Amino acid sequence: MARLLIGVSGGIAAYKALETARLAIKAGHSVRVVQTEASTRFVGPASFSAITGAPVLCDAFDDDPLRGAYPGEPARDWAPITHLALVQRADLFLIAPASANTLAKLAHGLADNLLTTAALAATCPVVVAPAMNHHMWRHPATRANLELLRARGVIIVEPGEGDLASRGEHGAGRLAEPAELIAACAPLLAGAGESAPVTATSPGPWLGRRVLVTAGGTREPIDSVRFIGNRSSGRMGYALAAEARRRGAEVTIVSANVSLPAPPGTRVLPVGTAAELQAACEAEFDRTDLLLMAAAVADFRPTAVAATKLKKDHGPPQLALEATTDVLATLAARRHPGQRLVGFAAEHGDGAVAYGREKLSRKGLDAIVINDIAAPGIGFDTPDNAVTILTAAGGEHRVARAAKAQVAAAVLDALAPLWDPSDKERDDRTLRAGPARTAGV
Ligand code: CTP
Repeated sequence: MARLLIGVSGGIAAYKALETARLAIKAGHSVRVVQTEASTRFVGPASFSAITGAPVLCDAFDDDPLRGAYPGEPARDWAPITHLALVQRADLFLIAPASANTLAKLAHGLADNLLTTAALAATCPVVVAPAMNHHMWRHPATRANLELLRARGVIIVEPGEGDLASRGEHGAGRLAEPAELIAACAPLLAGAGESAPVTATSPGPWLGRRVLVTAGGTREPIDSVRFIGNRSSGRMGYALAAEARRRGAEVTIVSANVSLPAPPGTRVLPVGTAAELQAACEAEFDRTDLLLMAAAVADFRPTAVAATKLKKDHGPPQLALEATTDVLATLAARRHPGQRLVGFAAEHGDGAVAYGREKLSRKGLDAIVINDIAAPGIGFDTPDNAVTILTAAGGEHRVARAAKAQVAAAVLDALAPLWDPSDKERDDRTLRAGPARTAGV
């Protein structure tokens, strides 16, 4: 049984928070609710109280008859600070609906009511589900507020599209459905609480881990319309991102020319070229626990890019190329203890595993995932894959051909031992030795 605190702010969608609380309780969690004053105009505390079986607090000075306890726990014999006790004991704080105003306050650290004060004091994961009019949702101020929250590791459950509260208005801004909210919270609640069952879907070492995934293929411009690119669709990277998120990790995707929808709950940073991918990865790397480098990064780019379209009547262009930076090897060289880096390599045929092992050590990686692109129907721009995972500790795991979502789950299972506590020694070793020098790109 995990402790879920639900914060309800003002908006017609507050009615969906009632069903969300009911579903959370049905899933075995213990739920308390805090409301903003505005939200009580839409749904009264009596309704939440009836569903949760616990008093609902609205004001920072409200006395909590349960003294910070969640349903099923004994009330304490001393009175804790009301506005801190509930959130400090929560395993997860879900703010749903989050109005545009509440979202702005959360982004800027305001603490002018019980809900925002609790959010500022939260040390547990925070999930925010916005709901508002579509003009407000699209406003640059709201977009910027969302980015601020995401950058701080808050998980955003995006609103859906459809009819909005104001008659005749249609667009993005409807609060996600209660079942979606519960699905977004499930991995974060899975390991929490003393009696939470450990199941096959338990998040293991992934809960709260900051995972940076690169996906897709970079494009290096030749002129204003043409580029040198590759066949990577981003499917494998996105499948890994979705699976890591499902297991409770906080996931950012550096996405190079991918046309797939973002996996729910992930943050996507679009990039075009190898240099842009490098800049995005360098900016994110220090706050990353695990880098999954699934993108196909160009090894060479044109030395000069024509500002306009090259004309055919000038004859075939002479393309001079220069090497790009090896992003993965560069980041491996500046890693902190505890950071893990995993490379991905497409290799041909018999020597694939041997090439992979050489790359693993040359780039200073913790593991490398190899797919043999000589095998028909797997690899680039296909729904399936089959891989071999090699670890620096000498492990070799083969994953037979399967849909990329299944392969992603198997890859994360194989990578979980990278956080074995006994690996501290390996950290020290890697940092002392530094990665082997890369032999150019
Ligand atoms: N990689 C990178 N930066 C580059 C090229 C590759 O970070 N400029 C990363 C890829 O994202 C991948 C790993 O390095 O995770 C291995 O990529 P691969 O192309 O197989 O390695 P290369 O060193 O480019 O070797 P090859 O000569 O086989 O292309």
